[in-house]
Amino acid sequence: MSHSHHNSGADDTPPDPEQLLKKEGEFWDLQEEKIESLYAKPHDWRFVPHLADIIIKPRVKTLLRILDAHKDSIRSLVDIGCGNGWFCHATAKRGIKSIGIDLSEKKIETAKRMAKEQGIDHLCEFVAGDVMQWQPSEPVDLLTSHGSLHHFPGFDDAIKHIVANHMRKDGYMLFVEPNHEGMSPEVREYLMDKAKNSWLKKHFDFEFYFEVMGQTSLDGPVREDSDTVDIRDESPAGKEFFGEHIDLDKYFCDHFDVIEKEFYHYFSSHGTNAFYVFMKSKLVRAAWRLMLPWMVRRDTKKLRDPKYSKWAEDGLWFMQQKGVRK
Ligand SMILES: C[S@@+](CC[C@H](N)C(=O)[O-])C[C@H]1O[C@@H](n2cnc3c(N)ncnc32)[C@H](O)[C@@H]1O
Repeated sequence: MSHSHHNSGADDTPPDPEQLLKKEGEFWDLQEEKIESLYAKPHDWRFVPHLADIIIKPRVKTLLRILDAHKDSIRSLVDIGCGNGWFCHATAKRGIKSIGIDLSEKKIETAKRMAKEQGIDHLCEFVAGDVMQWQPSEPVDLLTSHGSLHHFPGFDDAIKHIVANHMRKDGYMLFVEPNHEGMSPEVREYLMDKAKNSWLKKHFDFEFYFEVMGQTSLDGPVREDSDTVDIRDESPAGKEFFGEHIDLDKYFCDHFDVIEKEFYHYFSSHGTNAFYVFMKSKLVRAAWRLMLPWMVRRDTKKLRDPKYSKWAEDGLWFMQQKGVRK
């Protein structure tokens, strides 16, 4: 949800790649350091673990189903921008040799510690560094990214490089990335209308909402981009990506052989931010929590229709290089 600040100023000079990479690493280190305080005052459903579990359940289910269906051909993987390693931990539990790489040393430390705690460290390898400057000892069967590819400036070159150097020629790719920034007009209208409702207005934490959104009022301007690392902001390199407005669904369909795709979050994620994260009323929060599993299922069904899926917040694409499918 926090992809709200574009680098759309008058200055069109591309940022120095080395500086950008350094800033990106610092940003994710800071996020890992502050994770406890972010949980304490979460500003996004992704920082509320029991809600995040419910909301991302469908994608985990799909990931595991695909892995089970390709047991014989997928034995190793590289997870690009693995963060705290949760994706690798899940795949290692399926017996897959899982390598995670991330710019943030702090996240890599966490990933290693968690693998040990879960007794799967013999199936996991975690590397701190830039995935573009690194090479696995042998090409892997599957490349994954959970929300990381969109942090690569020069996306097209980056993905071609990674596919050519990290993956077996007839290997697979499974990427979960943002599909559309922000909400559909229908959802926005509904939420704006609700926000202006006098009863809800009393219970909605507008002050906090504006602080997080960088807005001054409900219809007010978004604050200017600043150079400081703001943990509530999209990451430095992520901003560059959204500045380019890449349509990932189109990109993947044009460049790869898409075996299957699935879309997530039409109403449930935006609604969760509105009715849970920024809501002061315990009653509304409790009601939302009870309804959430149903909302998520309703979203998943709705998103099979392209009329809705074009507004989906995230997508999952399972793919191979063109021309290699048997
Ligand atoms: C949105 S986070 C996703 C983390 C993780 N996959 C998850 O689902 O929690 C994006 C991650 O990409 C990493 N990243 C960005 N650019 C990278 C690069 N060039 N090489 C390696 N990791 C990178 C960042 O450090 C960050 O941890």
